Amino acid sequence: MRTSFAGTFGLLVCGALGAVAPAYAAPSAKAGAAISAQCAACHGNNGIAVATNMPNLAGQNYAYLLSQLEAYKNGTRKNPLMNEMAKPLSQQQMQDLAAYFASIPIRVGPPGRMHPRTGR
Ligand code: HEC
Repeated sequence: MRTSFAGTFGLLVCGALGAVAPAYAAPSAKAGAAISAQCAACHGNNGIAVATNMPNLAGQNYAYLLSQLEAYKNGTRKNPLMNEMAKPLSQQQMQDLAAYFASIPIRVGPPGRMHPRTGR
């Protein structure tokens, strides 16, 4: 009786979670790549920023990228440009974009080299 109660309870919980869980698909780097065209003007095609006052996104951690996009969208991180950019994005699109930029491989070396873009 006990085990069947646990089993039934488990099924009920799973069923309830399934019913209320939003129908997001798994994060897709491929879908993110398609949306990322609107980010390229500043963050570059490959996630390397086009100007030195903009952050590179290539190879950044998925969880960090997603949390920052969420923060721009809900206004807890304030930047006029990024608040505007994030506002229309759905949760799924933010996940896809985070997956895309996180999936771009980067290589780091020892410190002390000149910055490849600025040469300083
Ligand atoms: C018009 C230029 C511009 C565009 C377009 C743009 N960004 Fe940004 N983005 C910036 C700037 C500038 C910052 C730094 C803002 C700050 O200081 O908070 C930034 C910051 C970010 C950050 C935080 C990075 C960090 O290291 O904390 C993320 C993530 C990001 N952008 C993602 C995106 C995505 C995804 C898109 C496309 C949907 C996009 N951005 C489009 C200019 C832009």
